[in-house]
Amino acid sequence: MASDTAARLTIPLGEAIFTQRAIRRFRPDPIPEEDLRAVLQAAIRAPSGGNAQPWHFLVLRDRDLIAKFAPLYHEAWWAKRRDTGIHGPQDIPKEDRSLLAAMRLADEIGQAPVIVLLCAMARGAGAMGSVIPAAQNLLLAARGLGIGGTITTLHAQVDERAHALLAIPEHVQIVYCLPLGYPRGRFGPAQRKPLAEVSSLDRWGQPFAR
Ligand SMILES: Cc1cc2nc3c(=O)[nH]c(=O)nc-3n(C[C@H](O)[C@H](O)[C@H](O)COP(=O)(O)O)c2cc1C
Repeated sequence: MASDTAARLTIPLGEAIFTQRAIRRFRPDPIPEEDLRAVLQAAIRAPSGGNAQPWHFLVLRDRDLIAKFAPLYHEAWWAKRRDTGIHGPQDIPKEDRSLLAAMRLADEIGQAPVIVLLCAMARGAGAMGSVIPAAQNLLLAARGLGIGGTITTLHAQVDERAHALLAIPEHVQIVYCLPLGYPRGRFGPAQRKPLAEVSSLDRWGQPFAR
């Protein structure tokens, strides 16, 4: 039940927000069904335009299916890179740790205990914008239960095959692909631009914060 979920998410909100970051390496441990349910219960508390809730959460847990999906994810990731002029690992700057970690996820996503495909019940920007807040709710709730994950996207090149593999209706758009699992390795704090650089007060460019 939804109220049970709320009672289980006892991590301080500040701690959840300030420690939640992209987790891309997972231990093989399965995620208990009730935790998975809690994460989804939190996701569906998110706001959406007109409260339309045009989302659908396709949870992949079947190892064979994940093994079939993984090469599509890998292909999609490299298709996205090629769109930006990156044709192989040699084109990725060594200091771009985020991109290197994302590249590794493209190789290893088949090891994720769970993959959630966050879908919109219609194609186009409207429905897509309405499902995005659910992704952050989902990740924050996961963080509260010690589960890591990250937002990722696919690519048009694999869209049809992903739909066919998972019996997703044609009118449904796969918005995000969220691998989930218990984090493996150590993760430092998230790096973010200072607030002063990304905010203004009353008029654009007038400092809001130092
Ligand atoms: C819209 C969106 C698309 C993303 N796509 C990918 C992706 O395809 N692959 C990936 O590994 N991470 C992806 N990410 C994760 C970001 O790289 C990550 O959130 C960002 O680098 C901040 O990471 P941090 O919270 O660990 O600092 C995406 C995030 C967003 C919001």
